[in-house]
Amino acid sequence: MLFKSIRVKITILYMAILATTLTSFSVILYHNVSGRLHTNMDTLLKSKAGGITKAIDTYWEASKLETIESGITPDVLKKRRNVNFAKIAQAWVREESNDPALLDIIVQIFDTDGAIIASSKNTQDLPKILRKDFISVLQGNSRFDTVGSEKENNKMTLRIFTTPVFENEKVAYIVQVASPLASIQIALNNLKVVLFALFPITVFVTGSLGAFLAKATLHPVDNMIKTIHQITAENMKLKIRVPGTKDEIQKLAETFNDMLERLDRAFTSQRQLFEDLSHELKTPLTILKGEFEVMLKKLRSQEEYESILKSSLEEINRIIKLAENLLLLARLDSKEESLEKKRLNLNLLMQGVVNNIKRLSELKNIQLLFEGNGEIPLDGDEAQLKTAFLNILDNAVKYTPQKGRIHVAVEKGRSSAKIEISDTGMGIPEEDLAQIFDRFYRVDKSRNTAGFGLGLSIAKSIVEAHNGAIEVESKASKGTTFTISLPLADIKIF
Ligand SMILES: Nc1ncnc2c1ncn2[C@@H]1O[C@H](COP(=O)(O)OP(=O)(O)OP(=O)(O)O)[C@@H](O)[C@H]1O
Ligand SMILES: [Mg+2]
Repeated sequence: MLFKSIRVKITILYMAILATTLTSFSVILYHNVSGRLHTNMDTLLKSKAGGITKAIDTYWEASKLETIESGITPDVLKKRRNVNFAKIAQAWVREESNDPALLDIIVQIFDTDGAIIASSKNTQDLPKILRKDFISVLQGNSRFDTVGSEKENNKMTLRIFTTPVFENEKVAYIVQVASPLASIQIALNNLKVVLFALFPITVFVTGSLGAFLAKATLHPVDNMIKTIHQITAENMKLKIRVPGTKDEIQKLAETFNDMLERLDRAFTSQRQLFEDLSHELKTPLTILKGEFEVMLKKLRSQEEYESILKSSLEEINRIIKLAENLLLLARLDSKEESLEKKRLNLNLLMQGVVNNIKRLSELKNIQLLFEGNGEIPLDGDEAQLKTAFLNILDNAVKYTPQKGRIHVAVEKGRSSAKIEISDTGMGIPEEDLAQIFDRFYRVDKSRNTAGFGLGLSIAKSIVEAHNGAIEVESKASKGTTFTISLPLADIKIF
């Protein structure tokens, strides 16, 4: 449960990233500092060895001059295996080992046999140089070594630089300088302690800060969850509080409220649909019941039975028509009814529909005019388009009084076809115009015309399924015009 909270997940992730970064940073820092300190030590030892060689050589040159002046051949004055040189070196080391610059530095001077010529006072710390290493130095190679030594049971590590000094391209003597690594080790240990101590503190502090920030950021989400728990189909009017954070959470709250509104509208219209449907079913069924009851009250003549059965059949047909209309709407809604599209000529199709309705209009003495010519190619479902146009024309006849006029015009535009159906009928009041395409909506229920209020909603669904649009314009007691536009064939809709 704990790990199901985003807050905990973010905090743990945050701490893990920080711990990894800190570890890498500490390791890199430690190695860098350690490398630098050791390199510095090596550079120091090298320069000290150079300094010592130079100083001894200066001493030696001075004393050599004195000896030459007293008449001894220069040949004897080589540094190699020379007792005089050894004395000079010893004198220098003794004098200079107290120099503060050499403090802590151990100096040893060897002759080419490996015997110590001179050494600073603290050479007992220095372990003996290995034979093979000494031979390598004699061959002219300088070398660095790190060795452990035990001084009064106190372990210490020394860094040693051993380098040969040449005279006439031959090794004359060997200088060895060494320094304990204690100061470097102390510095590195201190660094280690600081890094180890800082690690948990930093991770803990930033982790707690991260947890706090995550909690503050996600607080509105907790509120949303609480409100959402209270929402049911019955109280869709409830809104969640929109935080003014101008971020994704605010967007989420706004989107959720939008969705609630749409759901509320859908639920309300669904409820309305149920009410209307029950009402539409109840009327014919009540009439049927009444007629059957009248019929059963006493024995009737054949004519009476025939008349009652005829009127009952009318009611049954009405129920069947209602069921058919509802089924068609349900299929159009669920897009289950796939359109059986084929290439049509809209002009011909419309002419056929007008002919179908002609008989009805003649019954009411209504003048029916058709205007349209040429080929208007359209990809559509013939039967469904016919149903849509018939529904609109049926209305025009139904809601236009005797001796009125209905005008049907089909026109080919650049990318779409336009169909205009206008009548000189009773018109639709402005306040009803927005609702006439709603299911079961009838302008005036007391208008003495039969119908369920489904014709226009079916027409609209069919037109929209063909990527078309339907519009209405009307003036009460002047007339109504329906304008339908449908895309022409081969025109792609994006
Ligand atoms: N041409 C028109 N003139 C005046 N009113 C109209 C016209 N067409 C539609 N209406 C109004 O719009 C309402 C809805 O029309 P619709 O075709 O959906 O239902 P209906 O004709 O009442 O019933 P149904 O078509 O299901 O038999 C009608 O009841 C009518 O009041
Ligand atoms: Mg109708």
